[in-house]
Amino acid sequence: MERDMEKRLIAEAFAAQKAAYVPYSHFCVGAALLAKNGKIYHGCNIENASYTPTNCAERTAVFKAVSEGVREFEAIAVVGNKEGVPRGEGDFCPPCGVCRQVMREFCDPETFRVILAVSEEKYRVFLLKELLPMSFGPEDLRVK
Ligand code: THU
Repeated sequence: MERDMEKRLIAEAFAAQKAAYVPYSHFCVGAALLAKNGKIYHGCNIENASYTPTNCAERTAVFKAVSEGVREFEAIAVVGNKEGVPRGEGDFCPPCGVCRQVMREFCDPETFRVILAVSEEKYRVFLLKELLPMSFGPEDLRVK
């Protein structure tokens, strides 16, 4: 993937982060998911007074795309920090285990890229297989 697209996705993740609904953790996460058709889907975390229904930013983005019939993806950029931390500061926000498994359902672990960013200059790119080694996926349920 071109560096320009990586930076574009990071900028989109920061835009998505603005919608984070985080009255409990005050930790704002934004994700931008690039589909193979070129479309970009935004996601933010959406918390709940009952806590467990909370949805992470990454899953929000994946579910938005899948609910519109889009199931093939190239990459996702993720940014996250505590409320009030200025853009470009803070740390990387690695996707939780549940979100990694949701990515695994629709994304090829060998090629799907997860971009963890603090800013458009400071970021790291991982393959899904690096973040979720020896994973269980749709093929494992097929009769061999
Ligand atoms: N969160 C995400 O949205 N994505 C992650 O990858 C890690 C955690 C959210 C869930 C919750 O709203 C807040 O961050 C604190 O855990």
